[in-house]
Amino acid sequence: MRRKLAAGNWKMNGLRAGLSEMQALAEAHATPTVDILLCPPATLIAPARVTLGGSPIALGGQDCHAETSGAFTGDVSAEMLKDAGARAVILGHSERRDLHRETSEEVRLKANRAQAAGLMTVICLGESAFQREATNTLDIIGAQLSLSVPDSSTGENLVVAYEPIWAIGSGQVPSPEQIGEVHTFMRARLEHRFGSGVGRSVRLLYGGSVKGENAAEIFSIPDVDGALVGGASLKAADFSPIVTALEEA
Ligand code: 13P
Repeated sequence: MRRKLAAGNWKMNGLRAGLSEMQALAEAHATPTVDILLCPPATLIAPARVTLGGSPIALGGQDCHAETSGAFTGDVSAEMLKDAGARAVILGHSERRDLHRETSEEVRLKANRAQAAGLMTVICLGESAFQREATNTLDIIGAQLSLSVPDSSTGENLVVAYEPIWAIGSGQVPSPEQIGEVHTFMRARLEHRFGSGVGRSVRLLYGGSVKGENAAEIFSIPDVDGALVGGASLKAADFSPIVTALEEA
């Protein structure tokens, strides 16, 4: 059985004062029946670990470099995230692919290093609105999946998040059929590549305008094992109903 996962991506939001939101979430979900992962800016990982104390809420980074250390001004390595208290890292988010021109090959190199460092990698895939209209979405997702996911992946160190770019921050959510089609496809591709044991143990998240109001419907879709939440993960009052919906799914 795959353990469900509610993940929050704070993106470039959050100062130390915002750690009170994490504390509130930890208090509201002291003994969650799903995994909870929060990925704040790298500057907040170490102080957040202190704030969270013994809470089962895990912390993650939002990107890492493909090298362990060296002359890479401004970058952060997987080892550094781990050292700060992270257990996971988001890689290949569309904002990195678009704004930083990251390719799937680079995402795979980063994921290789992160998995070697003992981090769980949350690898993001997704088509643009243009791609959905002009081409076959499954071709786009299939190519991103095979090129971004490293061979060293297992059910423990890999999570795949389907985030259609047009749904991120837009309030536009794909239909359950559209989400289901992509998740079923990703599951089949993972089983084909890694065998059914590993392929069936990898958790698949949906991301893009997930809110308390639409979470239950999204979590009822087969092969949706949780969500990667942006805006609604910043406030405990918004994220908590999503965690509860996942627990009840
Ligand atoms: P929103 O939930 O704000 O649409 O963001 C989704 C996302 O990009 C999570 O990584």
